[in-house]
Amino acid sequence: MKKVAVVTGASRGIGQAIAIHLSRLGLNLALNFYGKDEDILETVVAVKEHGSEYLVFNNDISIFENAESMIKETKKHFGQIDVLVNNAGITRDNLLMRMSEEEFDSVVAVNLKGAFNCLKHVSRIMLKQRSGAIVNIASVVGITGNAGQANYSASKAGLIGLTKSAAKELASRGVRVNAIAPGFIETAMTEVLSETVKEGMLSNIPLKRYGKPEDIAKAVGFLVTEESSYITGQVLVVDGGMVM
Ligand code: NAI
Repeated sequence: MKKVAVVTGASRGIGQAIAIHLSRLGLNLALNFYGKDEDILETVVAVKEHGSEYLVFNNDISIFENAESMIKETKKHFGQIDVLVNNAGITRDNLLMRMSEEEFDSVVAVNLKGAFNCLKHVSRIMLKQRSGAIVNIASVVGITGNAGQANYSASKAGLIGLTKSAAKELASRGVRVNAIAPGFIETAMTEVLSETVKEGMLSNIPLKRYGKPEDIAKAVGFLVTEESSYITGQVLVVDGGMVM
């Protein structure tokens, strides 16, 4: 029987690459995103091509009930959930002095609470199964901090704390929880940055290239398979050597 993965934010960028890579590894998928219905089509076509069965959930993952119904429906349809990738994330960058309450709350709601919402509901299923792998997509700025991203870096640091606490709670029943901290990855999220900012970033990357969504997807593939069966509670930095 094929294993089953839930991937949030699967319509583009890193989440899309993760969904496609997991389908290549032979998993069936629940694909979450939040946008226009047609946004998910590219992902759907690719996972179908690899022979995966899939469900689509277009909803805001920061709403507790949305996560609850997605996990319930996925379990009902496939009978099991083996992998959860909390990837959905947003930025609302601003300097602390200018940051509005809404900018802070919305980023924490999607990036941190969204992950909690899915983790909470999936953990019950995985504990019963006595197996499962969860990967939270954090960020290097959750480790280093970043001027202009107090909300975002706080949400990602929180996600790292959530990862380690969940890893400690779930380990005795064979459920592993790890985080990936990407550096600068070329997606719609980073496209909006100015050329000056981008060039500044590149000069700080020892491997001398920006990351691709596939670089993160391959690390996720490692963390959800038997290849990493003795690894839990860790933060894998995938950033071309930028933070070390
Ligand atoms: P993106 O902006 O290209 O894609 C974001 C995805 O999240 C989309 O599928 C979107 O529909 C979904 N999403 C947004 N709000 C949502 C909500 N409320 N509920 C459900 N889904 C929602 O972003 P990208 O660059 O692919 O980033 C993916 C993850 O990787 C994010 O968590 C981001 O913080 C993290 N990351 C990205 C880096 C980069 O350089 N691009 C660096 C470090 C971390």
